[in-house]
Amino acid sequence: MTSQQIRAQFLDFFKGKNHKIVPSAPMVIKDDPTLMFTNAGMNQFKEFFLGNTQSKAKRIADTQKCLRVSGKHNDLEEVGKDTYHHTMFEMLGNWSFGDYFKKEAIAWAWELLTEVYKMDKESLYVSVFEGSDDADNLEMDKEAYDLWNAIVPKDRIIMGDKKDNFWEMGDQGPCGPCSEIHVDLRSDEEKAKIPGASLVNQDHPEVVEIWNLVFIQYNRKADGSLENLPEKHVDTGMGFERLCMALQGVKSNYDTDIFKPLIREIEVITGQKYGQDEKTDVAIRVVADHVSAVSFSIDDGKLHSNTGAGYVIRRILRR
Ligand code: GLY
Repeated sequence: MTSQQIRAQFLDFFKGKNHKIVPSAPMVIKDDPTLMFTNAGMNQFKEFFLGNTQSKAKRIADTQKCLRVSGKHNDLEEVGKDTYHHTMFEMLGNWSFGDYFKKEAIAWAWELLTEVYKMDKESLYVSVFEGSDDADNLEMDKEAYDLWNAIVPKDRIIMGDKKDNFWEMGDQGPCGPCSEIHVDLRSDEEKAKIPGASLVNQDHPEVVEIWNLVFIQYNRKADGSLENLPEKHVDTGMGFERLCMALQGVKSNYDTDIFKPLIREIEVITGQKYGQDEKTDVAIRVVADHVSAVSFSIDDGKLHSNTGAGYVIRRILRR
């Protein structure tokens, strides 16, 4: 399946569940002082989550261009060294604004992955928020646990702490507990030796998170406290490049049809071969990733410069 087909199937699936399909917002943010770049699909819907504005559509889905190079979500240092982080990537997402909540979000995610994309159920692991006894004093997400427990065996449900299972867009803003879906792409032989559950969230290149289902119910305020939002919302983000890696049967995002043409062109321009020497491979992956990030930023109207967002683009370009 090509990446274009994979993207289209995601959007069609949620269209079939009465979601309005909207375009990606620009990657460079102009009207939010708490954020320089779009770091998640939900950014453009922040005011809906906070209840400051009402969305005409209660259900929305899209694919969003994201850039994670500054602030709370920054993957710059990982890029190239591993095969599944990017500065710029696409995030497939579905949203509910005060409409459906955990039950439908979980059931539909499972349906899409296992019935539409036909992913092997045994290769999928899910995680649930275990609660926190810090100042936020949050309860375990028992509702999500029970919903997963009805469809996934207990040994494939992982409990996670705030770092992995409580999603926040930045220091302030909408947030809530989340359930991640991870896929184990290792061979049967490797799976028999080490159970996939022990590799979830352990930086294993073939056991990776593909989808995050966030149950937005709080607002993190400037003083650090959490307040309940007037309504509960769903915010999901699926890494498009990682999904393509899983569905195209390859072991690296850079081996998908999204990156292969870029890598080929870099080989032609540099006279270097990809796949023969690790140091060269890291460099080629960095160039492929950064060329995309800079190109899409320029397309969104942000040129490299010496201040603010433009300076970040310049740093990526120099790198
Ligand atoms: N907003 C969900 C995510 O970025 O993971």
